[in-house]
Amino acid sequence: MAPISLLAMALMPLLALAMATAIPETESVDIPGKILACTGENYTGECETHYLGIEIPGDCLPIPEPFKFNVGSIKPDRGAICRLFDTEHPDCTGSGLSILYYPGDANLYRDVGGNIPGTEAAYWRCQQCTACT
Ligand SMILES: *[C@@H]1O[C@H](CO)[C@@H](O)[C@H](O)[C@H]1NC(C)=O
Repeated sequence: MAPISLLAMALMPLLALAMATAIPETESVDIPGKILACTGENYTGECETHYLGIEIPGDCLPIPEPFKFNVGSIKPDRGAICRLFDTEHPDCTGSGLSILYYPGDANLYRDVGGNIPGTEAAYWRCQQCTACT
């Protein structure tokens, strides 16, 4: 075996180590289906993290207090798309009041086509999404 190959083999573990440590430690870990919900705009007021199942078709769940009819901002992690539904759509069908994906919507109290998503939302559902951000 040529000396150059021996050298390469000797360096291999060092190379692997360098590659393993090249992953930045500050990179945040997204959990698709994890959402931050707040009662106020701009992620103010009462905030809570919720974990929703995203396996298609996704879990259609009643929005818990204090966010039911009172959600000012929602930030889903990357990898999921979430929708809000009013009391007329308890099965989460239709296009929904609001379509949310990372980095979310900081003001759900804005009028969207005659609806205020933040004061009408009673159900939410997230689904896995590879194409959104
Ligand atoms: C939210 O942030 C926007 C942009 O900075 C600002 O115009 C708005 O007044 C803020 N809303 C509240 C309730 O703080």
